[in-house]
Amino acid sequence: MDESGVVRQKIEAGEIAVENVDKSYGSHHFRKEVVRNCSFKIERAKLTVMIGPSGCGKSTLIRLLAGFEKPSAGAITLDGHPIAGPDRDRLVLFQESALFPWMTTYDNILYGPRARGEVTKETLELAEFLLAKVGLKEFRKKYPTQLSGGMQRRAELARAMINNPRVMILDEPFRGLDAMTKELMWEYYSALYEENRRTNFFVTTDIDEAIFLADRLLIMSNIPTQVRATLEVDIPRPRKLADIVENDRANEIKMQALSILHEEAMKSFSRGSKAAADFVEAYSKRSVKT
Ligand SMILES: Nc1ncnc2c1ncn2[C@@H]1O[C@H](COP(=O)(O)OP(=O)(O)O)[C@@H](O)[C@H]1O
Ligand SMILES: [Mg+2]
Repeated sequence: MDESGVVRQKIEAGEIAVENVDKSYGSHHFRKEVVRNCSFKIERAKLTVMIGPSGCGKSTLIRLLAGFEKPSAGAITLDGHPIAGPDRDRLVLFQESALFPWMTTYDNILYGPRARGEVTKETLELAEFLLAKVGLKEFRKKYPTQLSGGMQRRAELARAMINNPRVMILDEPFRGLDAMTKELMWEYYSALYEENRRTNFFVTTDIDEAIFLADRLLIMSNIPTQVRATLEVDIPRPRKLADIVENDRANEIKMQALSILHEEAMKSFSRGSKAAADFVEAYSKRSVKT
């Protein structure tokens, strides 16, 4: 039996440090500063959620973490080693579907290990476990177009998680799903995380999603972005959506986060941003349980 798959599953969760990172595009008059003097940690075996206004620079940070692009200044390290380029230690799950339409659910989930020649008894067991966990056992032989949007997202979660990266990075993975499907996704995803606490970094613009999922919450400023506040979401796990709605601590954190996001939105509102105007409008309609 090929041992590498077994070894892979024993690979430790990683920790990422972002230190004084700047990122700009273009030069001179056309220079666009997207990230400015940004520092934060993605702690080992924790679920860190980043929330920030749309357009603030979150996906730009993800491209830096993934190693697709380099910072203009500052350092990003994984367990003390500088990030030099893309590597399977850091797996990014984007909002766009990554499923291969010509493969069944099962084959899609096994794609990573097969591509690396790492299919072992343990990998096959893990595939079964993940299929069950994301509720797709009955759909293993179906193709992506035969699955609902929510099922496709669940298949993608399983397809990513089977690779056990040191750090799993998710860029607004549930954006665009209807509210009920989205809430169901939160429960599937948090159950997967609670089962096997690896390092997860999850980016969103949805405050309820952020608080339900996070161990730690990074609240970002407007563009050029940096961390405005870090909140520890000290709510016990396993979490159920119904509990969170009634949870005073969750509501307190939500109020804190919203007031910071509101300040940031007001700043960019005064600069005429459409996204910020939408946020201010949505925020003013929100009623938060006190
Ligand atoms: N390659 C690039 N060249 C110029 N500007 C860019 C580039 N990539 C991103 N930006 C700008 O950076 C800003 C932040 O984008 P992004 O990181 O996608 O934000 P978010 O993910 O928070 O919505 C946007 O204004 C975008 O126009
Ligand atoms: Mg983005």
